[in-house]
Formats: sequence, C-alpha cells, structure tokens
Amino acid sequence: MAEMSDPLLESFQLKHLTLRNRIFSSSHEPAYAEAGMPTDRYRLYHEEKAKGGVAMTMTAGSAVVAEDSPPSFGNLHAYDDAIVPWIRRMTDGIHEHGAACMIQLTHLGRRTGWSSGDWLPVLAPSPIREPAHRSIPKEAEDWDIERVIAKYADAAERMQAGGMDGIELQSYGHLFDAWWSPGTNQRTDDWGGDLEHRLRFPWMVLEAVRARVGVDFIVGLRMFVEESIPGGLDVDDGLGILGRLEASGLIDFINVARGSIHNDVELTDVIPIHGMASAPMLDFAGMVRAATTLPVLHAAKIDDVATARHAIRDGKLDLVGMTRAQIADPHLVNKIIEGREDRIRPCVGATYCLDRIYEAGEALCLHNAATSREATMPHVIPPADESRRVVVVGAGPGGLEAARVAGERGHDVIVLEAMPWAGGQIRLATRNPRRVDLIGIVDWRLAELERLGVDVRFDTFADAGLVASLSPDVVIIATGGLPQLPDLESGSDLVATSWDVLGGDVRPTGHVLFYDDNGTHSALSAAEMIARSGADLEIVTPERMFGIEVGGMNHVPYARAFNEAETRISINQRVVGVRRAEDRLRAEIGSDHSDHRSLRNVDHVIVDHGTQPMADLYFDLKAMSTNLGAVDYGALMDGRPQALERNPPGSFQLFRIGDAVASRNIHAAIYDALRLMKDL
Ligand SMILES: Cc1cc2nc3c(=O)[nH]c(=O)nc-3n(C[C@H](O)[C@H](O)[C@H](O)COP(=O)(O)O)c2cc1C
Ligand code: SF4
Repeated sequence: MAEMSDPLLESFQLKHLTLRNRIFSSSHEPAYAEAGMPTDRYRLYHEEKAKGGVAMTMTAGSAVVAEDSPPSFGNLHAYDDAIVPWIRRMTDGIHEHGAACMIQLTHLGRRTGWSSGDWLPVLAPSPIREPAHRSIPKEAEDWDIERVIAKYADAAERMQAGGMDGIELQSYGHLFDAWWSPGTNQRTDDWGGDLEHRLRFPWMVLEAVRARVGVDFIVGLRMFVEESIPGGLDVDDGLGILGRLEASGLIDFINVARGSIHNDVELTDVIPIHGMASAPMLDFAGMVRAATTLPVLHAAKIDDVATARHAIRDGKLDLVGMTRAQIADPHLVNKIIEGREDRIRPCVGATYCLDRIYEAGEALCLHNAATSREATMPHVIPPADESRRVVVVGAGPGGLEAARVAGERGHDVIVLEAMPWAGGQIRLATRNPRRVDLIGIVDWRLAELERLGVDVRFDTFADAGLVASLSPDVVIIATGGLPQLPDLESGSDLVATSWDVLGGDVRPTGHVLFYDDNGTHSALSAAEMIARSGADLEIVTPERMFGIEVGGMNHVPYARAFNEAETRISINQRVVGVRRAEDRLRAEIGSDHSDHRSLRNVDHVIVDHGTQPMADLYFDLKAMSTNLGAVDYGALMDGRPQALERNPPGSFQLFRIGDAVASRNIHAAIYDALRLMKDL
C-alpha cells in the first residue's frame, strides 16, 4: 500500500465540495457527442475515470453556450435544453463512483469556423482573424453582447439543473478573454480601451452567471494569467485581473495557464506533445498560487506521478491535472492508492488524442484502445473460462498487446520475436530523439508480460514447423510489414526508404530528395532527421499538403525543423523516375495535375510509400488452421468469440493483426489485438 502521507491522496475542500484526492482531469473535448449531446459513449468515458479513482472529472471542454459559437471540434450544445437529462445521466454515473464532476462552458468567439453548426457568423470584440480557425469574426454589436451574456447564464443554469458540482468558464483564447486582452479588443466604444472597459463584458458574464446559480454553486475560471500574443497581457496585468476577481467573490477557483492558442505552434506550448518540456508551467502556476487565496488548478504535461506529487507536496497547486495521463490510463489514481504505480499505462505524449478531434472527429488514445470504447472494450480484462495455448509471432505493438490481453485472460502465452528486442516499428520511430517516449508503449507491455508470466523468446525466427511444434490452440501473426516502394518508371534500385534512414543504415548527405507518398510519421520523422543532420533537403509529395496523415499538434515540431533547415517542400508533385547521372542521381518529377516534368540532380533519393505485409508465415500456416485464417467480422464487432470452422481437421485457430494485414498505425494494431483477444 502507498504511504498514508501521500500528498496526492489527501482530500481537498473546494467550497462545500470534498474532493477525495488531489488529481483531476481537466476539461477536454473528446468529440464523442451525438448531435451535441453527451450520450452513452461520453458518459461511460467519464465514468471510467470515476471508477479509476479520480477526484474530479471536468467534462466537456468548451461546451458552447450559444448557437453563434459553432462547434469546431464536436463541442456539446450547452445552449440546448435537451442537454439537461443527458447531463443528469452523466453526473449521476460519475457521482455513483465517488468522483466530483464539473463542466466547462464557453463561447468560442473567433476560435471556430462559420461553416459548421447553424452557419451563424463568428463573433469577437474586434474583427481580427484567428490564424488557427481562419474565420474573420463579426465585430460584436450591443444586441450580441446582451444576448451572449444571457446565454452564459442560461447554460450555467442548465448545468446546475443537470447535477454538476460546478462549472468552469473557459477564458483563454475564446470570447471571454478576447474582451480583456488588448491584443484582441481594439474597440474604441464603452467595451474597449482601458482595462475598466475591457473587463466590462467578462464581468457582466460572471455577474449574470452568479445571479442565476446563486452563491453556493461552484464557478471557476480557466485563464491565461500571462499571454504570449503581441500586445497581450503581461503577468502584472494578469495578476491584477486575478486580484479583482478574487476580491469580487464571483469565482471559486482558478485554473491557471500561460501563453496563447491562436495557432498550433502556441497551442503546443500550452499543451506540449512528446519531445517538448514536461510540466513547463508548473512553477508559474506555483507563483500564481502564492499570489492568490483562490484554489489553484493546473494541467500541462504533468504525465508522471512523481511530478504530480511534487506539485502538491511543494504547494504549487491545490489540484493537479493529469488529463492525457488518464486518457491513457483512467485507473491511474487507483493504481497509486493500491501501490501499483509501476503498472500505470504511461501517457507517451503522442497527442494522437488531441490531433484526432480535428483530423478525424474523435479522440482516441494511441495505445489504449479501450478508452472511449468502454461500452465494448474492457479496461480490465476478465479471465477466460478455459486456458488455451496462444502463440504470438512478432513483438511489435500489436503482438505485445495480443500477448498482454491473452495473458490477462489466463492463457498460456508464448511470444516469438526474430529480433533481439521488442517494439517493431516503434523502436524505429524512437530513433528520432524527439519521439523517444514512444518506447513507453513497448516497455509497459513488456513489464505486464513479465508480471503475467508470458514466455517471450527473442532471436527466434518462427517458421511453420516451429509454430506447429508448440502445439498451439491459437496462433496470432503480428509480423508487421516491410517498406514498399512507390511505383517508379525507373530507378527503384537507386532509392532508399525512410526505414533505412530511421534505422541508421543510410545517412544521406548533400542534396537529398525525399519522396513522401505516404504522409505519415515515418516519412516526416526520417525527413526531420535528414534536415537536422545538415543535408540540403527537398520533400516532394503528391498531396495538396505535406504530412497529410499527421495532425496539427504533431505537425509543429516537424514544421519547425524544416523551417530552420530551409527544407524545400514541393506539394502536388511525384517522383516518376530516378536515373544515374555521373556520380549523382537525376530524379524526374511529374504531377497528377499536368504533364509537366522537371528534373533534380541530387545525391540521394529517399522514399516512403507505406509498408507491405510480411505475411509469409501466415500463408504457410493457413492450411493447418481450423478457420483458414478467416475472421468472423460480425462476431468481432458484436464481441463474440471467433468460431468459424472452414477446415475441421486443422489444429489451431489462425489470425493476423496489425501491419501484417495492411499498412496502418500503432492504434490500429493495438485495437486489432484487443478486440480479437478479449473474446478468445
Ligand atoms: C482531446 C483534448 C481536447 C481538449 N479540449 C480542451 C477544451 O475544450 N478546453 C480546454 O480548456 N482544454 C482542452 N484540452 C486541454 C486539456 O484540458 C489539458 O489542459 C491538456 O491536455 C494538458 O494537460 P495534460 O498534459 O495533463 O493532458 C484538451 C485536451 C485534449 C487532449
Ligand atoms: S494518445 Fe498519446 S498523448 Fe494522448 S493520451 Fe494516449 S498516450 Fe497520451
């Protein structure tokens, strides 16, 4: 058991609300809403954190209070009365497991687009475009101001009626602080100018909310105490506003941040991804806590328990946000309580979760396929009725996950890996020093396999004879893929792949042409390593933007590297062929858009065209299996065991997962493994 004196496990009194420990999940919009309502998926996602021991889960992220705050990333419709019963179901579910529950309300202001939701014009104090969402906002008129203030109060009342323990108003980067920040409020009427006038709108919102919900209801503010936009608030301005807020008695807590979110670059300073600083604002938040009597909350890449404990023990925070950490492991707090900290599934900072709300409309954790799929995917794997022998071939992310889940089911599991190490393509990805934290995906699983007594055999090349000799009941082929080359008219033998670069087998110098016909991390990461090495790099892609599969937050460090190295980026073009030209190479560049061709004389051509399955073993074993490799997709979707019998004399069930099936990503491989193995 953890020591009773663990500061993280002390309770905290927030007004009348007793929180059972110091760890919370800050508001984040995972985009699971259906028609703006937090239906079952949303509720179960938060209930899992409550079951997992969190003190308070702050729901939504930017639930919108008005129709003219069009949802830009799947936001909840707090302006709609229909939300109240859904909120009630969610708060009941969370409270049942002993956690407190709040919701973040906002008007997104210019931080959204006009072409979603009800197609109403986007609103701001001044018509200054926000780079991230690109809308040019309407300058708010008197009737907008009155209307929106009332909308905040209405939404707050709905949340109170739905059983929320409190609300948090999102100030930074949205409509709220756009009024008080001189960088975004350039009005010359009564709503702009000096601080007194710039504070009018936010103050009227707080007063209207307070008047509606009463003095006892908890109302907090998530706020930049210092801004990094040109002409924005400096720290003295921010602390001055905070002092006024404190004196007014209008708010009950402050959730501290610093920076700006008007573009993705600034956003990654506020929400750092892997390879960026850990806990970058913790000392700043501690400084704010020393300057106020309001309880201070804060979240920004505090992804390990030791740092969280330090934040509380050293009095930097009252409540510590571990938001992505609990997306990766919603049972994090219980594991601390039970002294099983070493078993916490680590957040590796990949920020696949956040990137996907814009790129694909739902947050998913790169390596926890159960998160947000609580209705069908277990976070705690139940044991199987009977133990079977499972042989997994390949110790990449898919194979390791298959072995882990099989081990949790109580099966007798053997993993065969040809290399002397585990990890597959993740190990390659970590060759980029900036992405080294990804190894947590592998290391956590290896530690779990050891605990579960799984027999992992390295340096073991599996052929059909070896697999059959192990007398398996189930064989999982997770052998991954190998790079495939793009279709070239000539010169396939003259190019190297991103894997060669990542693995260190090829170190291109001089003029390097990188033909990225894949748009994923493998390409950008290899290109980043080339750019950083000092080579003169051009990236050519047939797409209309480069790195098309990589989300906005993950794009930032790549773009920074290419910018600093003056990398030339050529979109809408393809390498069609490569020839030798004396001691160099000559690449011919074409396009899908015209017959135009151009030439480049270079020293190296590197390509990325995804992978092709490495599935020889699978095909060798097919005839020996009972199912001939077939997957019953209906059973897979319904959560029933696989029972296809296409070859009754066969001696085992055979399945392949991950890139051994088709070129995809880490999440796909892990999801393949979890959903198949949980029913075997
Ligand atoms: C998927 C996702 C959506 C988010 N949406 C919001 C949001 O709507 N409002 C907000 O204030 N913060 C939002 N955040 C930021 C988080 O509240 C938190 O500040 C951030 O993840 C840093 O904390 P962490 O490192 O503990 O994850 C979001 C984060 C994620 C991962
Ligand atoms: S996707 Fe990455 S950053 Fe997001 S929770 Fe999972 S491990 Fe953490």
